[in-house]
Amino acid sequence: MKNRNRICERWWVVAMMAMAVPALADSGVGLFKTQFNSVTTSSTLQWTTLKKENMANYVAGADSEQGPIYLCRARHDGDMLLGQLRPKYKTCAVSGTKTYESFEVLENIENASLIIWKTWVKFDSKPNGAVVVDLAVDSVFIGRKKAESGFTYNIGRISYDSNIGHLITFDDKNNELTADNGEILIEIEPVSYKLQNVVLDENSLHSRQTDPVIFQEFLLENKGDVAATVTMEVEYKFNYTVSWGHGHGISTGLDTDIEMADGSIFPRIRWANPFKEERKELYKLEKYLLPGTACNVTFRGNYTDRDVQYTAKLITSYKDNLSRSREIHGERIENTVEVEAIYGEVFFTGNNSLVPTTTTTTTTTTTTTTPLPPKTIPPALEENNNIASEIKKPDHPEEVDSKMQGDSSEAIAKTPTVKEDIKTASVGGLGSKPNDANTRVFVLSLLIISPLFALLL
Ligand SMILES: *[C@@H]1O[C@H](CO)[C@@H](O)[C@H](O)[C@H]1NC(C)=O
Ligand SMILES: *[C@@H]1O[C@H](CO)[C@@H](O)[C@H](O)[C@H]1NC(C)=O
Ligand SMILES: *[C@@H]1O[C@H](CO)[C@@H](O)[C@H](O)[C@H]1NC(C)=O
Ligand SMILES: *[C@@H]1O[C@H](CO)[C@@H](O)[C@H](O)[C@H]1NC(C)=O
Ligand SMILES: *[C@@H]1O[C@H](CO)[C@@H](O)[C@H](O)[C@H]1NC(C)=O
Ligand SMILES: *[C@@H]1O[C@H](CO)[C@@H](O)[C@H](O)[C@H]1NC(C)=O
Repeated sequence: MKNRNRICERWWVVAMMAMAVPALADSGVGLFKTQFNSVTTSSTLQWTTLKKENMANYVAGADSEQGPIYLCRARHDGDMLLGQLRPKYKTCAVSGTKTYESFEVLENIENASLIIWKTWVKFDSKPNGAVVVDLAVDSVFIGRKKAESGFTYNIGRISYDSNIGHLITFDDKNNELTADNGEILIEIEPVSYKLQNVVLDENSLHSRQTDPVIFQEFLLENKGDVAATVTMEVEYKFNYTVSWGHGHGISTGLDTDIEMADGSIFPRIRWANPFKEERKELYKLEKYLLPGTACNVTFRGNYTDRDVQYTAKLITSYKDNLSRSREIHGERIENTVEVEAIYGEVFFTGNNSLVPTTTTTTTTTTTTTTPLPPKTIPPALEENNNIASEIKKPDHPEEVDSKMQGDSSEAIAKTPTVKEDIKTASVGGLGSKPNDANTRVFVLSLLIISPLFALLL
């Protein structure tokens, strides 16, 4: 009779996260890493073609009376050379005599990079975090030296041959100069992030659900002598994931703490990697049943993806307790499962006939002739975690008084449909002892922890 128990459904999470890959006409910026003696790519700097609207985030190396001088680079005889993008901002000068109209400028993406000019002398070894001019060349860096006149600094390249560097630059009058000391451009890399004051934009919430998947069917049965609320706790497991997006000039993989505006904390992630955990929760099935009656319950759920936009304050921490903060917005994507129980009609276990519903005589007839229970009695659709927390409350004697009104404090029992069911069960119990049931009311809790089962895979 109840053999269609374990309906195992395989369900593959199709993580269709739209990868927000920036249009890469722009090229990566290399940083020298002393630890590995090699060059890695910065996540917050890029070489890009000039756009007037992004000027505020271009990295300046010097000032002039006409405006800042930005860092640019252009190909010269096959080599990528560092240059000066001077006011009028039309060409990149790579030497006293060569300028190019085709060039790239150094951009600090979303102003997210912490860059400093560090003092440098020719015998210094290549410093950690030094910005290289060409990703493929680990010996040419960006330098500058205070100018005697004209611009505030003369910008140029620092080239290392073996262990000694040379700063080669040119001034506002295009005189070429070499120097033994000056400054070198360094990006200070973040060590961790914190998303603070995260505010979700509920209007942007998009939820996608699969059709309900039946996880298991149960039978709630009152084998006792008195009317009772029969309950059963179902423990179920599912995989929950949440992702907070990527991009924004935030280094992929760095530890990121997340705190909502209301102070609640989400699990720490590594930026751009979703957080994933297997969750175990309880769901309580319950039904008021007369003795000798039973009810089928279908426990089912929908796999649900929820996307929502958020704004947050991003605090970036660097070594030596340095930190900076800025506003960002992003998208949070959650994959979870929402479960519910569908209660069938109550029947006599002795002869399998439905317990008549006797609100009116006509309903009785209709119900008894209806072969299948209507599917229209879902209980309150609760977030499963609310339910789990309510389940932990023990049954209290106070529930007794309100037997007909929903016999527990649980929200589910208070939904109108469920109330109706309960009434039906008690009034319809003609052959049993309705009066008895009404006078000696108490709540019997049959607690059955079902064998735990995995919801998928
Ligand atoms: C209860 O489930 C059994 C088998 O799963 C089915 O044969 C029976 O018709 C169901 N009864 C009701 C009232 O839904
Ligand atoms: C970039 O950030 C720094 C430090 O937070 C700030 O001082 C500066 O004004 C910002 N620049 C722009 C163009 O927003
Ligand atoms: C959760 O995911 C892991 C690995 O992807 C898998 O081994 C496990 O069975 C999943 N758990 C459930 C309840 O689906
Ligand atoms: C950074 O802060 C911690 C505690 O707040 C302190 O112990 C540590 O000395 C600080 N480090 C530096 C370099 O200031
Ligand atoms: C699951 O999906 C069905 C059909 O789309 C819907 O009627 C039901 O309310 C959903 N259940 C939950 C718990 O979200
Ligand atoms: C089934 O049994 C119950 C009591 O056990 C009785 O009240 C009811 O009339 C029976 N139904 C049928 C159709 O025999």
